[in-house]
Amino acid sequence: MTRSIKKAIFPVGGLGKRFYPATLATPKEMLPVVDRPLIDYALEEARLSGIEEFIFITRKGKSSIEDYVEEYFKNKVLEYKDNNLDEESGLKNLTFSFTRQSDSLGLGHAIWCARHLVGDDPFAVILPDELFCSKTPCLLQLIRVYEERGGCVIGLGEIPIEKSYKYGIVSYSEDDGKVVKIDRMIEKPLPQDAPSNLSIIGRYIIQPQIFGLLGQEKSSIGGEIQLTNSLSDLIEDINLYGLRCKGQRFDCGSKPGLIEANISLAMDREDLRDEIANILRDFNSRI
Ligand code: UTP
Repeated sequence: MTRSIKKAIFPVGGLGKRFYPATLATPKEMLPVVDRPLIDYALEEARLSGIEEFIFITRKGKSSIEDYVEEYFKNKVLEYKDNNLDEESGLKNLTFSFTRQSDSLGLGHAIWCARHLVGDDPFAVILPDELFCSKTPCLLQLIRVYEERGGCVIGLGEIPIEKSYKYGIVSYSEDDGKVVKIDRMIEKPLPQDAPSNLSIIGRYIIQPQIFGLLGQEKSSIGGEIQLTNSLSDLIEDINLYGLRCKGQRFDCGSKPGLIEANISLAMDREDLRDEIANILRDFNSRI
């Protein structure tokens, strides 16, 4: 019997250097996609996937995220009341907590900072700068695989192989067309060294044994503690599955990705579609 996934970690302690100077005083996770900050999409995905405990890893200069999360939950209560929904059943069990990373020492370090809040439970991780749009929330797709197979599960997306140097890439031994059994992960390989075109997309379900490994991890690329190193070590004891997630992924940690997400989500909106289409047509004639 697998234990259900009720806790999610939101690592939001990074520096967001790729968006300097915009992120010198505004967290990357508060950058807008149309009219909602990135963190809002992550909160909604987690809530719709059944997460009840929301755990944020923040750092100095990121307190606007805490304010936003509080507003998000207040607004949800109002939304429930306005729509005569049973507030008690939907929101009563939700809690949120914040802990700080003293320095941005990498994603692995950020996760490790949540160990006292997670305890002995399996948990989810959502990277808010990876925006995923899908009918079934991306995290829920992972939870369903976890409920069938147990172990750890990570979300995967297909990338053009020439872009492998930007992503974490997996190597796998079994593949049923939907789920692969991962045997290795490589951070940002050159195309000729990439074992596949499947990249990690910032959604994870992880067993708590990871904390022991993260605690021993030495910093690697750029002085950061990588999550992928400890996950690779965990494969010796626990199966690691990768799910080809259904939906559209936007790498909003990069400028082109954030711009693409804004255009794509605006085009999905009835109130904006026509105006944005006119702007795009105008640009198209200038290219
Ligand atoms: P990134 O590596 O994309 O974020 O981490 P970054 O370091 O902020 O970005 P750049 O490269 O400087 O532009 C993915 C997620 O992990 C969090 C980030 O906030 C982001 O949500 N993160 C990263 C942490 O919480 N702590 C860290 O030390 C590093």
